[in-house]
Amino acid sequence: MQNLLIDCDPGVDDAIALLLAFGSPELRVRGIVAVGGNVPLVHTQTNARKICELAQVRDVPVYAGCDRPLLRSLTTAEYVHGATGLGQVSFPEPTIALQTQHGVDFMIETLLAAEAPMKIATLGPLTNLAVALAKCPEIVKNIDQVVMMGGATTHGNVTSSAEFNIYCDPHAAQMVLNSGVSIVMMGLDITHQAIATPDRLATIRQIGEPIGALVAKLLEDYSHHDIQQYGFAGAPLHDPCVIAYLIDPTIFTVRHCFVEVELQSEAAIGRTIVDWYHASGKPKNVQVVATIDSDRFYQLLCDRLGLGFDSAQPAKTQTAKTRIER
Ligand code: RIB
Ligand code: CA
Repeated sequence: MQNLLIDCDPGVDDAIALLLAFGSPELRVRGIVAVGGNVPLVHTQTNARKICELAQVRDVPVYAGCDRPLLRSLTTAEYVHGATGLGQVSFPEPTIALQTQHGVDFMIETLLAAEAPMKIATLGPLTNLAVALAKCPEIVKNIDQVVMMGGATTHGNVTSSAEFNIYCDPHAAQMVLNSGVSIVMMGLDITHQAIATPDRLATIRQIGEPIGALVAKLLEDYSHHDIQQYGFAGAPLHDPCVIAYLIDPTIFTVRHCFVEVELQSEAAIGRTIVDWYHASGKPKNVQVVATIDSDRFYQLLCDRLGLGFDSAQPAKTQTAKTRIER
């Protein structure tokens, strides 16, 4: 069982990542910290609580972290995730309360008190983690691994050069890369292979009410932009790839590289410069995910979404085949 903190900006793919984490007995989510990103913080923290409520997970505390990047003004992505971040799906207002402590202080407190180093999944801009590291550098020793959705070796999705999470707060990303924590970078090169094609959507829909139908609807709403922009056959499931890596890293392969963030060029700010062939000779600081078995990824996702959620005890690990016809 991996003790996990999830920092996120729900956002449709963040929401599905949370559901995947809740449905996976390998993970024990110890807290969720929302950050301003896909939509403003007021929505990301509310959406995180809505997803907890949907999954009937009431023992995972939800915190609000930073509402804006360290230096830049907040860039949001309503054009992808919808006006409030969960597509056109309307959820009831959550009864789960938002914690009053600042999410950064929760991260610091939890990591310092951890009996063993913890995993951190970052699914949005890295502002919260950067501030936590700046405020309390000693938390590094209690972070086993950060698995972040962010960056790319080749292209961007906000500009031609930069991926959204890094572009949104490039200075925070560079601080995390400089911090010495063990980082796995799940970039667009990978997540743009994890496409929710119509066949995969049909499988998800067959999981049934409420989860299967809701996730399928969320993905349909969320897919329009990327289908138009990239000609994909569906939506790329960025953030669930991070959770899948934590559950079963054999679905992926990684390559140890030196990575830094472009901070000067206005045209390329937020680009992750991945030294794939070690040309710089600089110390390698990131495990960059190099490949994904997309079919195994979707099998895992459907398996876990089909299990149902009970955070009080690990879900049973029956396969979803018994629940959805292949
Ligand atoms: O570039 C994709 C990433 O930015 C995803 O995490 C998405 O949710 C947004 O946060
Ligand atoms: Ca996200």
